[in-house]
Amino acid sequence: MRVLLTGAAGFIGSHVRRALDAAGDEVVAADLMLSAAHGPGAEAPDGVRRVDVRDPEAVAELLRGVEVVCHQAAVVGAGVSAADAPAYASHNDLGTAVLLAAMAEAGVRRLVLASSMVVYGEGQYRTADFAPALPAPRRREDLDRGVFDHVDPHTGDALDWVAINEDSPLRPRSLYAASKVAQEHYAGAWTAATGGTVTALRYHNVYGDDMPRDTPYSGVAAIFRSALEAGESPRVFEDGTQMRDFVHVRDIAAANLAAIHRPLTGFVPLNIASGIPIGIGEVAELLAAAHGGKAPVVTGEYRPGDVRHIVASPERARAVLDFNAAVAPAAGLTEFATAPLRTACGTGAPEWR
Ligand SMILES: NC(=O)c1ccc[n+]([C@@H]2O[C@H](COP(=O)([O-])OP(=O)(O)OC[C@H]3O[C@@H](n4cnc5c(N)ncnc54)[C@H](O)[C@@H]3O)[C@@H](O)[C@H]2O)c1
Repeated sequence: MRVLLTGAAGFIGSHVRRALDAAGDEVVAADLMLSAAHGPGAEAPDGVRRVDVRDPEAVAELLRGVEVVCHQAAVVGAGVSAADAPAYASHNDLGTAVLLAAMAEAGVRRLVLASSMVVYGEGQYRTADFAPALPAPRRREDLDRGVFDHVDPHTGDALDWVAINEDSPLRPRSLYAASKVAQEHYAGAWTAATGGTVTALRYHNVYGDDMPRDTPYSGVAAIFRSALEAGESPRVFEDGTQMRDFVHVRDIAAANLAAIHRPLTGFVPLNIASGIPIGIGEVAELLAAAHGGKAPVVTGEYRPGDVRHIVASPERARAVLDFNAAVAPAAGLTEFATAPLRTACGTGAPEWR
């Protein structure tokens, strides 16, 4: 099958490309080689065409003979300031819109979209007597005095987390998250307008070989790894019991392969996760032990935009794609503790003009 893979030189795109090659698919690989991701003046890897997905003529050319588009290209990370908003809107949303228009023009009807757990914003919670709860964002005065859990306003008890499913409301809490929600909305509307199909893979916390190093735009696994490499303790925010789902990049590649090879109907969002929740403190401990580095320090600091818990239900991806993560977090994080990181260093703030 001939597949257009955007973002093919990125962390996840490189793994998807290898998986497609191994499966015998014909890959048209494209990437803009943004300096925010690869450092200034980076060359495209062999076989990757330097193309901006916001360029309609270049994208039309790439789409010749393509059956499925696997769209990984994006500016990533939580965003550092409001100055990043145009970069997220431009690369992620205009880029997706240009791609969708070109696909309709070329008669390419299937898209696999890299989405993210950040589209949910908050996780899903329940009270002690199992009633669903939709808490408001945490208050700064509570966080300042070390009260990190959401509480039941009636009883004052901490709310428990529940694995989030794909029907949960989308409440983006960062500029990046807003751009990922918009990508999904454009893609969903495109299926209605064209009869095309979109499988939106909502990756949870991805980690693995060749992950980018620590920048203000990095995820927590890269931040902990970079601290350990510098001979420092990983610094764990809040009390370390905040829960996430860490999914290995090989499993992300496998989920993309499954989605590419399995046409679904309409717009189908799917959590892509290990299905084994883990606390952030435990992630730091596993990495530190396996790296042979300094023990983590739980600092009690917090970032106002962070959510307390977000844990995925992997059930729908299991049912519709037959996808089951192969790498459990304990084994995967142990391997990641000494895995190679991306050699090139991104410049941080993304350019967009
Ligand atoms: N890494 C994660 O934890 C994670 C989690 C959830 C979702 N995602 C999503 O997965 C996808 C891949 O992320 P990643 O972690 O590999 O990031 P990455 O930065 O390593 O890769 C993204 C690639 O997209 C390219 N790119 C950006 N704008 C482009 C444009 N206009 N035209 C062509 N190429 C462009 C960049 O040069 C880069 O190589 C993104 O869509 C991201 O939102 C990642």
